[in-house]
Amino acid sequence: MLSLFTLSSSVSPDGHLVIGGCDAVSLASLYGTPLYVFDEGHIREKCREFKKEFGKYYQNTNVAYASKACLNRSIAKIMDQEGMELDVVSGGELAIALSAGFPAERIYFHGNNKSEAEIMFALESGIGHIVADNITELEMLDRLSCRADYRPDVFIRITPGVDAHTHHHITTGHSGSKFGVYLEEAPEAIRIAQKLEGVNLVGLHCHLGSQLHETSPYTDALEILLKFSKKMHDEEGFILREISLGGGFGVNYTLEDSALPVENYATAISGLMILLCERLNLPHPKLIIEPGRAIVGPAGVALYRAGMIKQAKRYEKFVAIDGGMADNIRPALYDARYAVATAGKMLDEPDQKVTIAGKFCESGDILSRDVWLPSVETGDILAVPVAGAYCLPMASNYNGALKPAVVMVGGGKSRLVRRRETYSDLTSLDIEDGA
Ligand code: LLP
Repeated sequence: MLSLFTLSSSVSPDGHLVIGGCDAVSLASLYGTPLYVFDEGHIREKCREFKKEFGKYYQNTNVAYASKACLNRSIAKIMDQEGMELDVVSGGELAIALSAGFPAERIYFHGNNKSEAEIMFALESGIGHIVADNITELEMLDRLSCRADYRPDVFIRITPGVDAHTHHHITTGHSGSKFGVYLEEAPEAIRIAQKLEGVNLVGLHCHLGSQLHETSPYTDALEILLKFSKKMHDEEGFILREISLGGGFGVNYTLEDSALPVENYATAISGLMILLCERLNLPHPKLIIEPGRAIVGPAGVALYRAGMIKQAKRYEKFVAIDGGMADNIRPALYDARYAVATAGKMLDEPDQKVTIAGKFCESGDILSRDVWLPSVETGDILAVPVAGAYCLPMASNYNGALKPAVVMVGGGKSRLVRRRETYSDLTSLDIEDGA
């Protein structure tokens, strides 16, 4: 079970979960619950691992952190310090990154429906890359780049028609997806982009899906895109300078999961890239990968306090926590499975099967069904590993929930990087209308 927690996690002699040298039960008392705890060393280590493993086999690789997985100013600063590039998908994510001092030239702007205002904001900020999702966007971008007199490097997102074998809500590279230009329309997109004065086309992008557990979707897509580039080179004079294979590198949420090590992706992708470029007589393009979940997911732990405990003779035993779908909608949305531990009883034998229920007014608000725990009492702190990705960014104020506080831990120290919302935050945007 400890193996699901962050790299620096351990258990103290008195059976407490320790993250980044900080006692999880004490963190919960100090900052309150629900609390999202990030192991700073783990985040940094993952950035370094991606850079090292890909760099080892294909030196010309850039690793862009997909900030949708989790973004705040503290994480943006860590990414900057680690020399990462950054993906954003909206003006909002761009604003957060810039406000943390993240350099605009290392940012890629994605999204299937960027507004004029968002593109203008990106251009005026001096964004490095724009990933155009469709032909309409290319035309809009042309107009706006000429107006702003700034031409960022542009990728066209291609939908290569590859099935990524993941939950249907998070697969994106298949034909019929709302994202990207389908392969059959792609020659047209390249022809148009090459003619547009304001569009500096440098490469192709694809993203196949999220939480993948195989290398084959990446290698299949790479082969499709390289062969397509060769055809476009011969027919249209297109030169593929950069290619992005997106993110999607899976992680282990439970002990039954079997995510691949980063090295497997690095060897499979780089090996094929080198082989095919030689075979097709293409110059080796820069490779971009965009991990999100694999960087921050396992680096985060959610802490909750157990409240009501309901045990009826014929039914499962429910332990209700002070959070749930408002801070982690993944179980309700994707049937995601999460492991749960009792942060103050890590050495006790799990002897009962319980269902961890959230506190929100939905029957589907179940964080984890049928988990084995040592006898849980009201007031115990429950720790959920691998909570660092796609929980906080998808959090809501449903039922008037206050979005949780976030702390960074490391070396026995903790610091608050985002305060818990307050009741006044809930009303601060409402306008008195005198009604
Ligand atoms: N690049 C692009 C263009 C993407 O759309 C995504 C994720 C990524 C990179 C990063 O993928 P990752 O390495 O994190 O798998 N809310 C869902 C996940 C949606 C992912 C959307 N795109 C979840 O909670 O599982």
